Amino acid sequence: MKHFLNTQDWSRAELDALLAQAAEFKRSKFGDQLRGRTIALVFFNPSLRTRTSFEIGAFQLGGHAVVLAPGKDAWPIEFDLGTVMDGEAEEHIAEVARVLSRYVDLIGVRAFPKFVDWSQDREDRVLKGFARYATVPVINMETITHPCQELAHILALQEHFGTTDLRGKKYVLTWTYHPRPLNTAVANSALTIATRMGMDVTLLCPTPEYVLDERYMEWARRNVAESGGSLQVSHDIESAYRGADVVYAKSWGALPYFGNWGPEKPIRDAHKHFIVDEAKMALTNNGVFSHCLPLRRNVKATDAVMDSPNCIAIHEAENRLHVQKAVMAALAHQ
Ligand code: CP
Repeated sequence: MKHFLNTQDWSRAELDALLAQAAEFKRSKFGDQLRGRTIALVFFNPSLRTRTSFEIGAFQLGGHAVVLAPGKDAWPIEFDLGTVMDGEAEEHIAEVARVLSRYVDLIGVRAFPKFVDWSQDREDRVLKGFARYATVPVINMETITHPCQELAHILALQEHFGTTDLRGKKYVLTWTYHPRPLNTAVANSALTIATRMGMDVTLLCPTPEYVLDERYMEWARRNVAESGGSLQVSHDIESAYRGADVVYAKSWGALPYFGNWGPEKPIRDAHKHFIVDEAKMALTNNGVFSHCLPLRRNVKATDAVMDSPNCIAIHEAENRLHVQKAVMAALAHQ
């Protein structure tokens, strides 16, 4: 049984098939691929796009979605084995995943890092717990990666450039300022999928401390070796933006400061100028801009950039619906 936990677990041919199916779903809204099927959407964190697009996507394919928020409208869950459960958790993932599997055909999981200890967060225990005990396919709705966003992003780029072949495009993944340290998931994912598609990728970040986890840097290097793209890390804004075809922005916290964010704040605050603005975009090759959303305007990117015709963030958000329908259909019919 195949899950959708990371795009790196799927072959390039499988990803291309998902993208082609998503494009087809975009042309014809309704189908019966999930007729009589159900999906549980388990949210440990807030969402606008993911929740809405999964619920509507299931409906448009004849299926039904049930949304659960453990600790709010469902029981808090324990994930460690061997724990004496005398704390907040009322039940264990061993029961939760197996019981849900008796009711539904698919399980989606959103579980962000706790931002206290990266060595623990990088284990992705919540997602892996569901995948270990569920007897139905599990979909990553954003944990420490965001594979659904990856597919939506690539579909939007393919639409913008009018080709499924993105090799040779100069792609800049730029860190941007945010008042709080955020999840690295979308950055990990952008690096993974951009290198997978054979683009020439620059990871632009303020200091070496903002380089992403070695697991994702290694995935990117492996992808480059297979796809023929390239990968470089830069801390120089002007050279990174110059000639770029794609600028993808995201803010994230520096991994060495997980659990001790105090010393990270002055570094972050000193790099507010990483905001994506018209002057930087003017250096690009009439480049396209995107972001996974939500986005704080005039903090991460200016109004002018967001309102520019070169901003495809809304298209990318729409594509969440289409790619997730493709993922659900593929997993339900394996
Ligand atoms: N991009 C994204 O996953 O949006 P939400 O957090 O609103 O679901």
